[in-house]
Amino acid sequence: MKQRAQRLAALPPYPFARWGSLVEATRQQGLDLIRLDVGNPDLPPPAEVIETLCNSAQRPDRHGYPSYRGLPVLRQAVASYYQRRFNVALDPETQVLPLLGSKEGIVNMALAYLDPGDLALVPELGYAPYAMGAALAGADVHTFPLPAEHGYLPDLDAIPADVAGRATLLWLNYPNNPTGATADLEFLARAVAFARRDGLLLCHDAPYSEVTYDGYQAPSALQVEGALEVTVEFHSLSKTANMAGWRVGMAVGNAEAIAALAQVKSNIDSGIFAPIQEAAARALALSPQWIEARNKIYQERLDIICAGLQAARMPAQRPRAALYAWAHVPAGWRSEDFARQLLERTGVVLAPGPFFGPGGEGYARLSVTAPTERVRVAMERLREFAAHTAPPR
Ligand SMILES: Cc1ncc(COP(=O)(O)O)c(C=O)c1O
Repeated sequence: MKQRAQRLAALPPYPFARWGSLVEATRQQGLDLIRLDVGNPDLPPPAEVIETLCNSAQRPDRHGYPSYRGLPVLRQAVASYYQRRFNVALDPETQVLPLLGSKEGIVNMALAYLDPGDLALVPELGYAPYAMGAALAGADVHTFPLPAEHGYLPDLDAIPADVAGRATLLWLNYPNNPTGATADLEFLARAVAFARRDGLLLCHDAPYSEVTYDGYQAPSALQVEGALEVTVEFHSLSKTANMAGWRVGMAVGNAEAIAALAQVKSNIDSGIFAPIQEAAARALALSPQWIEARNKIYQERLDIICAGLQAARMPAQRPRAALYAWAHVPAGWRSEDFARQLLERTGVVLAPGPFFGPGGEGYARLSVTAPTERVRVAMERLREFAAHTAPPR
């Protein structure tokens, strides 16, 4: 058989896929696992969303190929959500595109805008598909730091002018995975101004904007004046409405970029199952009370995690948003060694910081998506482990 395509050589194995095999092997040894490594919501979507899916699936006319651009009912629901939540007016015809989960749109956006030799600006610490999309497109990546001492916000002006001038895409993600950091409108306005100055497309990935704590409300980059000229925002029902397995999200913003993404997608996929689109439209009309009640459950788990981290001497800042605590591993440990030993000895699974980029060494990410009582057990095991296990020499 002939060799695989060269582009796969530029694509390291997805870190969570490799880690998942190790976790599975540990499970087979009979250990009681508690998975705090992945941001996979354990709670169900609202009952009315499931009911919409079921009712729609009963109809004989809902099983054919859906339209490439998404059902009008979903595009309109997205526009209404942006109007209601951010006071941003979007044209559902040209500025909204449903996605098979936002990961798909993120990678396909790279195919829409990057040729071999082009450049994407990507945070040094973050969601892997920003860089992987560029790698699939044969493009280059310039990473910029997210310094902890600046609240994990980049200093965009520190990106060399020749690098910024060569780049096509700028990726940002707030509320942030893995750090839980948030960005205010002032920072987003600086990012939009930067994109305008250098003729870049700002891609703001915002799947956690409805997962917030202590009354915090995350802004949209599209609230910045003039943002629609240079910005696309990605959003997901995975975290907003506990629908990760349904694979539905959306890209919104600059009409030209939305058209380019739609062109790529029409050659790759054939749309989203209509009942899922109708249910997603229902989910976007969710009451703020539902979201608040769900976030309260996460908040309680976060309290348990933060107290447990303190007891284990793993400093972490309490986040205002997203599904994660971002903690230092105890002194003397490399992140992956710590996470592996913790897994093998206690069954507690954390995500090693370097899975999110080289800037993650020395950290681990803990997710709030396990049942509250299991989170409690996990933190007790973590405390015991940290108290009694010395780092390797
Ligand atoms: C920052 C970020 N963006 C995008 C995604 C993808 O979400 P989905 O493809 O489920 O919409 C995730 C998932 O964890 C994420 O953390």
